[in-house]
Amino acid sequence: MSATSTIPDRLLSWYDRHARELPWRAPPGAPAPDPYRVWLSEVMLQQTTVAAVKPYFERFTSRWPTVEALAAAPDEDVMAAWAGLGYYSRARNLVKAARAVAAFGGFPDSEAALRALPGLGAYTAAAVAAIAFGQRAVVVDANVERVVARLFAIDEPLPGARRPIRAAADTITPAQRAGDFAQAMMDLGATICTPRDPRCLLCPLAEPCAARASGDPARYPVKAAKAARPERRGTAFWIERDGRVWLVRREGQGMLGGMRALPDDGWSARADGSGELPLAGDWEPAGAVRHVFTHATLDLAILRYSGPESPAGAGEWWPLDRLEDAGLPTLFVKAAQRALA
Ligand code: ADE
Repeated sequence: MSATSTIPDRLLSWYDRHARELPWRAPPGAPAPDPYRVWLSEVMLQQTTVAAVKPYFERFTSRWPTVEALAAAPDEDVMAAWAGLGYYSRARNLVKAARAVAAFGGFPDSEAALRALPGLGAYTAAAVAAIAFGQRAVVVDANVERVVARLFAIDEPLPGARRPIRAAADTITPAQRAGDFAQAMMDLGATICTPRDPRCLLCPLAEPCAARASGDPARYPVKAAKAARPERRGTAFWIERDGRVWLVRREGQGMLGGMRALPDDGWSARADGSGELPLAGDWEPAGAVRHVFTHATLDLAILRYSGPESPAGAGEWWPLDRLEDAGLPTLFVKAAQRALA
């Protein structure tokens, strides 16, 4: 038996003893969990930690216990419930996919049919097919990528290495218990095969691991040098009257699209943030906040209005004592805190 061929059995018997208990999971070897819960958790877990996801997952599943309930929810309610989790296109696509699934009469059970749902990428389709339907699918997220790059000591740098990593993952994915296998790889990546200082002494795959044999497992996955994150500047407008603040809803598909927000000068479209003031009258600086997005760092100045005019166009006066209920994304929560400080 080659060392590689022992990987699935070694990993699954480790998982039988060490699987993390998570609210969207069935215990190792148990019947598969509700596809709705699997799908929702996988969407939430993209780019987001288990710790951050847990309370959102509990709230969503209490409020919308089925995919039909989520499909019937107004977009604004789902966007507001997602506030703080980031990557808001996920919430927009979530509602679209829920409606498609409800119209179809339930989740399809094949990877290909799942992939055809709005906003379901290759990763989510594979994860749901494996975890909820027990189908053999090759599930590769960032944790799995690291584990596989190490097991096979793949020298090619990411992102180019994605293809060979996937091909290598395919060679070790078993036909049975593919969902447990996928989640075992994720748990191994999260708890043992960590980015820095991997705990090889505890690893069930230490023996067949080529990176460990090389003596420097943390070198993998090799990464191409990153370009610096661009810096952007912008201004948000704090217009307060009678204990209420003026909020708008951001346009469709762009940055934070569909989310409630403070009005701003259009920083998302420009690098210099040299926008116009929305109302005539006195404006005074009310501080600034810095926020790191994946693709840019934003310095957002806040200007407070103290003139007589009222804002024109779509928006709403939101009571300051209920600001937590507005579903503001983190950037604007920080800006509001600054303005109110
Ligand atoms: N990250 C993404 N999906 C996961 C899952 N099912 N369990 C743990 N971590 C994950």
